[in-house]
Amino acid sequence: EYQCIVVSEAEGVGSIELNRPRVLNALNRQMVGEILHAMEHFDADEGVRVIVLTGRGRAFAAGADIDEMMHEDTVSLEMMNQFTDWDRLACIKKPVIGAVHGFALGGAFELALCCDMLFAAETASFGFPEVQLGIMPGAGGTQRLTKLLGKTKAMEWLMTGKRISAQEAHKYGIVNEVFADEVLMEETMKFAAALGKQAPLAVRLIKESVLKAVDHSLYEGMQFERKNFYLLFSSEDQKEGMAAFKEKRVPHFKGR
Ligand code: HXC
Repeated sequence: EYQCIVVSEAEGVGSIELNRPRVLNALNRQMVGEILHAMEHFDADEGVRVIVLTGRGRAFAAGADIDEMMHEDTVSLEMMNQFTDWDRLACIKKPVIGAVHGFALGGAFELALCCDMLFAAETASFGFPEVQLGIMPGAGGTQRLTKLLGKTKAMEWLMTGKRISAQEAHKYGIVNEVFADEVLMEETMKFAAALGKQAPLAVRLIKESVLKAVDHSLYEGMQFERKNFYLLFSSEDQKEGMAAFKEKRVPHFKGR
């Protein structure tokens, strides 16, 4: 059914692999639409707890498809309104883990920054080369990078378009962990499967609350956090989790 991605599902983990390896998984609009479709499908699938996003071939992805983009103009871009797909990607409720090997450039770095957590292979490299094409990021890169890095480093990376190694990305808190290339997927899937065993409602509302912290003032974020904290006390999982603690046994969470 999909032409630009491959999806699979195992052990509560829904996987999406970008699959245009001949052009280093350059993100055309169809691919972004397919990623969104697959993510929303996994988000609604009770059997899926965690979503993993990765790339086939020698890169995560080399950015937006330049062939598709090069003849656009201001009005065509405005009327196409392609970024509503990206807005919806940011509304996925389940945790999304990106596993990056090879290049994650431009729009692909933006896609990686949409993930909730990132694991990188030693040979991964990140960057915003848009400036070298006479453009700038358009899918949240200037905003998400600045919120993660602070102003001065974000300015440097965005204005120079320099390549950032996995180690440097780790140093600046862009990626959670760096693994040898050959174990990246194994480690990512292990982490995802373990995350899938955490209390699903708690994980869901933690994601929502952390994203609020990124997006809102501390005061607004804390009001939001408090409401979600209260909300969890009407779940069966809260009762089960605390009962299991008192009874010194492993909790059995049901997502209710
Ligand atoms: C279209 C691309 C592409 C891209 C690579 N290819 N990146 N096609 N769009 N973004 C194609 C190449 O043209 C080539 O096709 C094939 O993939 C293999 O790439 P090579 O360049 O031969 O590989 P290599 O020499 O290893 O160089 C890898 C690379 C380079 C450094 C990643 O491909 C590169 O600089 N790509 C562009 C990166 C970039 O500028 N990304 C930002 C795009 S702007 P052929 O047919 O020649 O074999 C952007 C804006 C986002 O992302 C806006 C919001 C969505």
